[in-house]
Amino acid sequence: MQRFKIIGTGSYLPDNVVTNDDLAKTVETSDAWIRERTGIGARRFAPEDAATSDLAAQAIRRACADAGIGPEALDAIIVGTCTQDTIFPSTACWVQEKLQVRGMPAFDVMAGCTSWLYGLKVAADMVAGNAALKVAVCGAEMFSKILDFQDRRTCVLFGDGAGATIITGTDGDTGLLSSNWGSDGTLASILKVPAGGSAKPSSHATVDAREHFVYMEGSKVFRHAVTAMSSGMVQAFSDADVAAADIDVFIPHQANKRIMDACLDRTRIQEHQVFSVLEKYGNISAASIPVAMDEARKAGVLDDGHTLAVTAFGTGLTWGAGVLRM
Ligand code: UT7
Repeated sequence: MQRFKIIGTGSYLPDNVVTNDDLAKTVETSDAWIRERTGIGARRFAPEDAATSDLAAQAIRRACADAGIGPEALDAIIVGTCTQDTIFPSTACWVQEKLQVRGMPAFDVMAGCTSWLYGLKVAADMVAGNAALKVAVCGAEMFSKILDFQDRRTCVLFGDGAGATIITGTDGDTGLLSSNWGSDGTLASILKVPAGGSAKPSSHATVDAREHFVYMEGSKVFRHAVTAMSSGMVQAFSDADVAAADIDVFIPHQANKRIMDACLDRTRIQEHQVFSVLEKYGNISAASIPVAMDEARKAGVLDDGHTLAVTAFGTGLTWGAGVLRM
């Protein structure tokens, strides 16, 4: 078990709501297709002049306020994202600039939609046994800046947002009762942004070929997502010695309602245990679990003493699952 206590949560979603009907004005798609294939009804898009760190800083500010501390009291800032502000420095360092805090380590974790869960496991080791330490784990994304609006198979899926959790060490029985994480880099090429890195630096040619946008082989990703998320969850249940029925709240990474439903089938979790923000925010990648956790806490659905199950899947391909005692 990795012992820690979540002492604060916060989230930030840009104000601009883009419905499926709004998208259908410029993309050859329809509200009916998107809802039926994905369960998504709308998403938020950030302003042109905003960056991922703006969303992350707001979410961390709110999580700190919820924890009753100022951002300067944090001992580390971890940002999970695959839509970083710049190739370098890390988004977490830009967050420090926006929060006007310095000194504590700040770094990004890049595991796609699994990034927040990866970050949580790293943070749990950092605070282990030390109640004086406080670490912010944030999932933040700005997909609107890397979507190809000429590719209707991907541009309808993603949105922008950020969610943050503040964790501290504890001797109590809260934290990750069980967890697992993994990655299969032999599948790296099925979900990627092809250009802009060292493998293929940006050039006029890469921009003309639209290689600075998301490329995804949707049906392959779908298949692997269902298998990885559900088998990770089943393993975590077994390791924690809990049954699906013991779970108070289930928050899977929210990419697609059909992926979530297939996970329910395979894990025996019931629909009423699920807390979802997918319909209103779309796939917000690393932000989806911490945003849903924050909204579940604020709605009184998720509370101290509850058992929370989380499972995620993302580019890499990465995955992770955990059973959390709040
Ligand atoms: O965090 C992980 C991120 N990744 C994911 O969540 C993606 C996982 N994959 C998926 O969710 C699904 O593969 C999609 C939702 C992306 C696509 O669903 P699908 O059932 O696999 O559809 P498809 O790609 O097989 O396309 C079916 C049809 C095609 O038309 P034809 O060739 O049958 O005439 C597409 O051209 O649907 C068409 N289509 C659309 N039609 C209207 C594809 N996208 C759209 C669209 N609007 N947005």
